[in-house]
Amino acid sequence: MAVIPGDGVGPEVVAAQLEVLKATGLSFEFSEYPAGDNHLEKTGQAMPDETIKGAQAAQAVLFGAVGVSAAKVILRLRAELGTYVNLRPSQAFKGVPCIHPQTDIMVVRENTECLYAGIETRLTDDVTTATRIITKTASLRIARHAFEYAKTNGRKKVTAVHKVNVLKITDGMFLDCCRKVAPEFPEIEYEEALVDSVAMRIVQRPEEFDVIVTTNLFGDILSDLAAGVIGGLGLCPSANLGDEHALFEPVHGSAPDIAGQGVVNPSAAIMCGAMMLEHLGEKQAAQKVQNALETCLTQGKTTRDLGGSLSTMEMAQEVIKAMD
Ligand code: NAI
Ligand code: MG
Repeated sequence: MAVIPGDGVGPEVVAAQLEVLKATGLSFEFSEYPAGDNHLEKTGQAMPDETIKGAQAAQAVLFGAVGVSAAKVILRLRAELGTYVNLRPSQAFKGVPCIHPQTDIMVVRENTECLYAGIETRLTDDVTTATRIITKTASLRIARHAFEYAKTNGRKKVTAVHKVNVLKITDGMFLDCCRKVAPEFPEIEYEEALVDSVAMRIVQRPEEFDVIVTTNLFGDILSDLAAGVIGGLGLCPSANLGDEHALFEPVHGSAPDIAGQGVVNPSAAIMCGAMMLEHLGEKQAAQKVQNALETCLTQGKTTRDLGGSLSTMEMAQEVIKAMD
């Protein structure tokens, strides 16, 4: 396993995550690699080649968070690892205050193209442009992944989210691909919806959504919106998946305002650990970690952001106790 703790609260949540993973009794080897602002200051490089190579050689990568170099570091890692899927679950937990306790949405976000291709041009002093790339290959691949995810995880519905009334050509192609894949999964209901109305519906009636499949930018925004509905960033893990590599990271950043205090919520990182176990075929261990975490959340054994009084490591210890 390659571990990239990063900056700020990154190393704190990763330390908690590794304690929990070690307590599963499975024997993993963890090798640490540097990346981020601290490394940039020391060496002039935010993302050393050694880290890329370590990540490429590993069975899976655990990533904490980095600071201002985030875009450079994480976009480079996603590209070098060919992780074209970004899975972002937002699930409400019993005992955690939130707007909609019935929320359980999996956003399946395309992770390689759209406006994140980074093709921007300054045409004149007055005019700038950004290029939105949507390909058939990436759209078919992400649609198929979303339906397969739904099928293997007992989900009932896939909603393809788009803005085809304006983006007729690009989202037209994206939707064509979703429509082509949908009939291969007759047991899964298929729905299409405009991104703006989906944003409103997630706030008002999130229970209408199950799996959402969408392009890169819409997926980024909707997954944070869904995170807000379930009680915040401390509860949202994510998985970056490709054909050969997998990288797991909390959705939150380096949280400089609370870094170094030992109070950051480790839940997202611990759920990343569970997602990694699941990905490696260790379903039982994954379920055990997830259940233990949910028990702690239900019993209010949490860090202060969720109203509890535990430190980061104390919360990890409570999760480990609940695993027995
Ligand atoms: P952030 O996610 O770091 O923090 C936003 C707010 O949420 C802060 O008040 C923070 O204290 C709180 N928060 C976040 N995670 C928490 C947790 N697990 N427990 C308790 N409270 C938590 O986002 P922000 O402030 O916009 O960015 C800070 C830095 O992180 C920036 O330099 C940004 O570039 C970087 N960043 C890195 C990411 C990554 O490494 N993947 C993702 C997002 C931001
Ligand atoms: Mg984001």
